[in-house]
Amino acid sequence: MRETQETIFEDVPDLRTVEREGVRSVKSFVLRGTRLKRFQVEAVRAYYHDYVIPYEERVLDFTQVFNNDKPLVIEIGFGMGVATHLIAKERTQYNYLAIEVFLSGFTKLLDKVGKEGLENIRLMRFDAVAALTDMVGDSTVAGFHIFFPDPWPKKRQHKRRLIQREFAALLARKLVPGGYIYAVTDWVEYAEQMLEVFDSVEELENPHHGFSPPVSWRPQTRFEEKGRQQEHQINEVWVQRRG
Ligand SMILES: C[S@@+](CC[C@H](N)C(=O)[O-])C[C@H]1O[C@@H](n2cnc3c(N)ncnc32)[C@H](O)[C@@H]1O
Repeated sequence: MRETQETIFEDVPDLRTVEREGVRSVKSFVLRGTRLKRFQVEAVRAYYHDYVIPYEERVLDFTQVFNNDKPLVIEIGFGMGVATHLIAKERTQYNYLAIEVFLSGFTKLLDKVGKEGLENIRLMRFDAVAALTDMVGDSTVAGFHIFFPDPWPKKRQHKRRLIQREFAALLARKLVPGGYIYAVTDWVEYAEQMLEVFDSVEELENPHHGFSPPVSWRPQTRFEEKGRQQEHQINEVWVQRRG
């Protein structure tokens, strides 16, 4: 049996909006209507209060959210959350804030982490740019994961790409000294744009002086699988905030 989005929006009105009211911005995502399976709706009912952080215009203290002072890693655009879930489960020395607007993937990850009772992860369904700007303190984030961001391949769509100078500067500001940004894409020309953009931000340095070797602990994501099937080259970019 399937239920519509509306069912959970009635239960949890906070989930309805993904953008700041009255603020018009270039969107790096497209929202499509999603029919949810019953387990996804039930996941919201069962786990929303323990795992989901609603958008507020207020900087959060994540040591209070997690009740410990492990370093915070933020993933932007986790899709189906396959890699997110495995990383949180295996690399328990970090806390994770996983941000995604796509409701189907969001509720799937919520179901997984809720059923397994993972303690080091929280989820947000909101535009990551607004969430970072308003809710995350400067110099507080140990790392950012951005795996296979939408490539927006047509030239006229390039302005919708997430990784642009202003966004990179925002990430740099949120990082602790030595903190990292780890981005991966199967779109060669976007990978080159990432290198250029990060290079243009004074606070960031690239220890690899180009693409990074693959990182052993990153599991394959859904979009990576699709890219590999089409024989796309996968490029990894790892930069750090100067210490
Ligand atoms: C191409 S998918 C990749 C998903 C996943 N990381 C993977 O590799 O399978 C990019 C995802 O980023 C999400 N996204 C794009 N812009 C976003 C934003 N500003 N805030 C939150 N999520 C965003 C989209 O909804 C989409 O699910």
